[in-house]
Amino acid sequence: MKKLPPIFLSGNGTARYLECPIIQSPLAGVSDQIFRQLVRRWSPKALLFTEMVNAKSLELGHGEQKVLELSEECGPIGVQLFDHRPDSMIEAARKAESSGAFLVDINMGCPVKKIAKKGGGSALLKEPELAQAIVRKVSKAISIPLTVKIRLGWCEETSDPISFALGLQDAGAQLITVHGRTRKQGFSGTSNWEAIAKIKQSLEIPVIANGDIKNSKDAIECLEITNADGVMIGRASMGAPWLIGQIDEELKNQKTFKIPNAKMKLSLSLEQLKLLLFKKGNHGLLIARKHMNWTCKGFPGASELRHKLVRTNDPREAIKLLEEEILKLI
Ligand SMILES: Cc1cc2nc3c(=O)[nH]c(=O)nc-3n(C[C@H](O)[C@H](O)[C@H](O)COP(=O)(O)O)c2cc1C
Repeated sequence: MKKLPPIFLSGNGTARYLECPIIQSPLAGVSDQIFRQLVRRWSPKALLFTEMVNAKSLELGHGEQKVLELSEECGPIGVQLFDHRPDSMIEAARKAESSGAFLVDINMGCPVKKIAKKGGGSALLKEPELAQAIVRKVSKAISIPLTVKIRLGWCEETSDPISFALGLQDAGAQLITVHGRTRKQGFSGTSNWEAIAKIKQSLEIPVIANGDIKNSKDAIECLEITNADGVMIGRASMGAPWLIGQIDEELKNQKTFKIPNAKMKLSLSLEQLKLLLFKKGNHGLLIARKHMNWTCKGFPGASELRHKLVRTNDPREAIKLLEEEILKLI
């Protein structure tokens, strides 16, 4: 596989390069600061994303923590915004920029009813003129790059993803990520990489392919089919914060990547749990639960451990369970 060149984003005054073509998806409820901290360990140069942030709330000063904490992190991090009101998007994007975001991304793909019903996320796929107006106004209001994440359309019957993407490009979007499903499909079927290829062929700005990439083999196949400038990985990285780094190294033909063994997975889970408890108090256990459930897999005794971890409401008990398991392996 030929080496992918860095991705150039001209910005509206601040040009930026993305050296790593493997990108971590924004994942609501997952890609928080602690998850990103773990992903960063294996991927110093990859673009990571915040969870999607409600632009109206950010404009009003709520949920600012999600962008303010960027100043404590290193490497490129994109802030993803959702809403449909250009003025709120502008104010939120400015806040993201002043907090140190590498770029601002607009969510035009989220299928969640609560969001689409109010006109945000995937609902913008049905409103190309509004989508373009948002991109035009926000891209002029910030100097860092503005990017957009889309799906193929609202539903197959009405979708024209090439025109939609061309409209965003004309309005000033500097990169488009395409999840190869329509809104109607949700997560059913498979990501249509051929459709992403057609969008890539029609655009001048970089295109990132997304959907159903689980490993390096998938990434190579997707890049070959789509000719995209990079790939974005979502679900497969949940519980596997090393995956972005692993795929990046394997694509560069560095065969030295050491996939975490049982002890490392347990230590990682313990670290994530302790960080979440420190940051969120006892509520951290609830957040850690799903991560522990994803990470503690693929070694003897893992399923019994997961069974106990998801049942305990006592953070000390969860720590003890992980520590005991680690001790067994020493
Ligand atoms: C739990 C979860 C949360 C997600 N949150 C977001 C989000 O905040 N913003 C977004 O653009 N997409 C979000 N997505 C969609 C993913 O970023 C990605 O586009 C989709 O999962 C397809 O890629 P994959 O097959 O690699 O997972 C989310 C998906 C999941 C499963």
